[in-house]
Amino acid sequence: MVKICCIGAGYVGGPTMAMIAFKCPEIEVVVVDISVSRINAWNSDRLPIFEPGLEEVVRVCRGKNLFFSSDVEKHVAEAEIVFVSVNTPTKTRGLGAGKAADLTYWESAARMIADVSKSDKIVVEKSTVPVKTAEAIEKILTHNNKGIHFQILSNPEFLAEGTAIEDLEKPDRVLIGGRETAEGQKAVAALKAVYAHWVPDDRIITMNLWSAELSKLAANAFLAQRISSVNAMSALCEATGADVAEVAYAVGKDSRIGPRFLNASVGFGGSCFQKDILNLVYICECNGLSDVANYWKQVVHINDYQKSRFVNRVVSSMFNTVSGKKIAVLGFAFKKDTGDTRETAAIDVCHGLLGDKAQLSIYDPQVTEDQIRRDLAMNKFDWDHPQHLLPSSPTASKQISVVWDAYEATKNAHGVCILTEWDEFKNLDYDKIYQNMEKPAFVFDGRNVVDAEKLRKIGFIVYSVGKPLDPWIKDLPAAPSS
Ligand code: NAD
Ligand code: UDX
Repeated sequence: MVKICCIGAGYVGGPTMAMIAFKCPEIEVVVVDISVSRINAWNSDRLPIFEPGLEEVVRVCRGKNLFFSSDVEKHVAEAEIVFVSVNTPTKTRGLGAGKAADLTYWESAARMIADVSKSDKIVVEKSTVPVKTAEAIEKILTHNNKGIHFQILSNPEFLAEGTAIEDLEKPDRVLIGGRETAEGQKAVAALKAVYAHWVPDDRIITMNLWSAELSKLAANAFLAQRISSVNAMSALCEATGADVAEVAYAVGKDSRIGPRFLNASVGFGGSCFQKDILNLVYICECNGLSDVANYWKQVVHINDYQKSRFVNRVVSSMFNTVSGKKIAVLGFAFKKDTGDTRETAAIDVCHGLLGDKAQLSIYDPQVTEDQIRRDLAMNKFDWDHPQHLLPSSPTASKQISVVWDAYEATKNAHGVCILTEWDEFKNLDYDKIYQNMEKPAFVFDGRNVVDAEKLRKIGFIVYSVGKPLDPWIKDLPAAPSS
């Protein structure tokens, strides 16, 4: 039996390895992590991450050919293929702080592999890393020269949260980058054989190491750029009376552009887009390409602009102050069908409203109170580091309450901000919500999930991102643009 070990039992390592175990019954897959609580959760009935379809896959394989363990060194030593799927956060201190990738966790994993290995191994970069990381990793792995051979492959992951299982089962493509030597190509073939269990041959693309590493950063930059483009358009739509949904539909009908990923929103979030673009910016700067760096920086700039534009809309619509007013926040996760809050737009929007002294009542079907309070107390970029570096006691701010029901959140509120596109927000009883709110009652839809006309008939004043403005909002003096 071939043995695969994956270092890092997170959003990528867990689901990815579960899918390999599911599709390859003759391969033993062990996922290891330094976080004992995370491993315990993977071995329990309540998995550490919420992902549709994940539980079913784990249930079929766990204990048969899929194992979760905190005995990191043992399983790394025994494996022929070692995936490294640890976090690669943005550096918070020192050279490149605020942009460059922090490879501390990667480096310590690589040093451990070098130390415990007694046989040749294929080491696979699953984490998103700066281009040329494989070269550095190679040096670390071979530093103590024990006569053991390592082949480094780049195999970036393209799954999106909320659809991870679907994406893993039917990937658009699997990239495998390796050295162009005989040994390098042998390693590429070995990894290709794993994916070939379920991925069609024409979807497994092999290339050189640096192209594979850079393709991941490039793909995320292009995707985020589409969202910033449509969000930039949404501001112009509001100013001119155009409807961003109609504009996006028309633009997306061009087969060269395509219809997906053109939904205007309160801003993109998630653990990847901002981090990876900042990393790309840093790499460009290090290569003397400041114009290229500035080009990509704008994608993040427009995203920040979109979040602050939303806060300005809320405050300016409500008589230029939300001080002491209850505002219901529906949705805190960075997108629907996940409990993940990393870099969620909700954090910046809540900070903006709290800065204006609002009383927030927050509801999300998948995010715990503890997580929300922790997120709102955290410094920028701290979220991707181990829990012990984070605030030990989450903020007990009297300005925030977290409730487990949208009706409770909206009771006696002056305004409602919809920040995640959870399906249940489409079908709430808005008549009932209206009855229980202060008047005038406002809805600020940051995801365009509600039927604005229907809500206006009930009596709400409605703002929808990029849509023609409600007469109430249109007649107000223009809000400052940032
Ligand atoms: P995560 O924080 O959920 O998981 C990383 C895990 O690695 C943590 O549980 C941590 O305890 C563990 N870890 C860190 N150092 C370790 C070590 N030395 N030994 C053992 N375990 C260690 O992160 P994630 O979201 O799974 O992302 C992992 C990588 O994949 C990142 O580079 C990310 O950019 C990339 N990625 C993420 C996604 C996504 O949707 N989350 C998608 C594609 C790529
Ligand atoms: C992203 C990439 O899609 C994935 O390929 C990569 O592996 C990891 O990063 P993820 O961050 O999980 O995946 O989710 P994604 O669906 O890309 O959404 C990212 C953010 O963009 C979310 O906040 C989402 O709400 C927002 N978004 C997405 C929009 O605002 N509009 C859109 O049209 C699409």
